Amino acid sequence: MTEAAIPVLTIDGPSGSGKGTISRAVAARLGWHYLDSGALYRAVGVAAGWADLDLDDAGALVRCAFDTDIGFRDSADGEPRVLVNGHDATDELRTETAGAAASAIAAIPEVRSALKERQRVFRQPPGLVADGRDMGTVIFPDAAIKVFLTASAEERAERRYKQLKDKGVSVTLDGLLREILARDARDASRAVAPLRPAEDAVRIDTTGQGIDVVVERVLALVPGRAA
Ligand code: DC
Repeated sequence: MTEAAIPVLTIDGPSGSGKGTISRAVAARLGWHYLDSGALYRAVGVAAGWADLDLDDAGALVRCAFDTDIGFRDSADGEPRVLVNGHDATDELRTETAGAAASAIAAIPEVRSALKERQRVFRQPPGLVADGRDMGTVIFPDAAIKVFLTASAEERAERRYKQLKDKGVSVTLDGLLREILARDARDASRAVAPLRPAEDAVRIDTTGQGIDVVVERVLALVPGRAA
């Protein structure tokens, strides 16, 4: 199968739009591979933290993006574990600190270039579900199916609040909402690969919608699987 013949379904959108959960569920239902591109940016952010790098030192961060060894390992609960330089960093990757570091380094064009090929190699038969911000616009512009998920900032903050509370992390809803709005603004306003829907993306607003409903709506876009 030539690379171009391997189908790609891109799912882009802001944090908290349900992308991760929905992408993983769609990939499992299709039996396709799954790329969590945010995990790559988070992994570089975490590795930069371990190495005590300055988030303003673009040169050092670009080297870090090239040098960091990032691996994914399946786990029993269906949520892949992420190995950063051989250490299981899955839990650390999910913290707000790692998210904020990822968002800051993701604004550096050379970091994005450094991670480009590392994302494209996930395109393997029988297909790929790619989750991120620029999957449909930059990394897989030739993807046959492109989805852009949105949800109100309030609902996204509430979802995150519940997730963190379940894990015993103490946060305030107000604080989370402020962080989400700040991250959206930074991701949407950066000069390179800003968060925006591809022109040919199908937009789905997940506000007030259950995961199963959205998963079915996405699956219905895949040729041969329409309800
Ligand atoms: O999806 P996420 O929350 O794990 O992503 C963390 C950060 O990484 C996000 O704030 C922006 C950046 N990112 C990106 O710029 N491009 C991607 N394809 C994925 C994530």
